[in-house]
Amino acid sequence: MKTNNYVLWGATGQAKVLADIIYNDGGTIAKIFDNREIESPLQGVDIAYGIGAFEQWLNSVGTPEHYSAIAAIGGVSGFDRFEFYQLFCNNGLLTPSVFHKTACISQSAILGENVQILAHAFVGVETSIGHATILNTKASVDHECVLGTGVHIAPNATLCGCVTVGNFSMIAAGSTILPRIKIGSNVIVGAGSVVTKDLPNNVIAYGNPAKIIRRQDLVR
Ligand SMILES: CC(C)(COP(=O)(O)OP(=O)(O)OC[C@H]1O[C@@H](n2cnc3c(N)ncnc32)[C@H](O)[C@@H]1OP(=O)(O)O)[C@@H](O)C(=O)NCCC(=O)NCCS
Repeated sequence: MKTNNYVLWGATGQAKVLADIIYNDGGTIAKIFDNREIESPLQGVDIAYGIGAFEQWLNSVGTPEHYSAIAAIGGVSGFDRFEFYQLFCNNGLLTPSVFHKTACISQSAILGENVQILAHAFVGVETSIGHATILNTKASVDHECVLGTGVHIAPNATLCGCVTVGNFSMIAAGSTILPRIKIGSNVIVGAGSVVTKDLPNNVIAYGNPAKIIRRQDLVR
């Protein structure tokens, strides 16, 4: 079952981006939640704050299966995005993926749930993409790539064929990852980098060719 009536978690720019896709697809947004007490970014859409308000809303609607939910959280917050995906599943909400109509997605690609594929993004043949991953505007993920959960491929980043990206990693805007490179989990590849060698878990790397700049704990 699929419903085009959405609940978003996250009230920043990513909510506007997702709303644009959902509205263009004839959908509606019932409610936005955020932990911070900020204004709703969407005209006419009510916002509520914190997990308590979310639980209250769930109790009041009584039929969570009539709603789709997705975390409108970008940047390096892939771990949070994945946790919200799990929260939605555990509470009986539907967790479809959201695709911009200009995205080009191979029929042989295997996509998880709550994946966000934005305008003009490309997903090549036999590519696999984990839950709660974002392919941002014009991101290109070529043949046989394997992306984990909570990954973010930022605008205009290019993954050549057979690239692997571990859970919660972000490939920042305009970067290029050469063929067959393996990038670990919880990695940030800085904007405009060219990655020519494998990267281990828990590092930040950038430059051309990309060098490891420092190690990092799991970004939350
Ligand atoms: C990799 C990144 C996280 C590094 O952030 P940071 O550690 O806070 O780095 P700083 O801004 O403190 O810069 C530290 C130094 O590194 C340099 N630097 C930072 N990012 C760089 C990059 N991508 N390439 C080359 N040099 C970079 C800075 O110029 C600065 O140099 P300086 O010390 O000589 O002045 C950040 O640059 C980045 O790429 N963010 C992602 C942006 C993006 O694509 N977001 C997604 C939008 S949807």
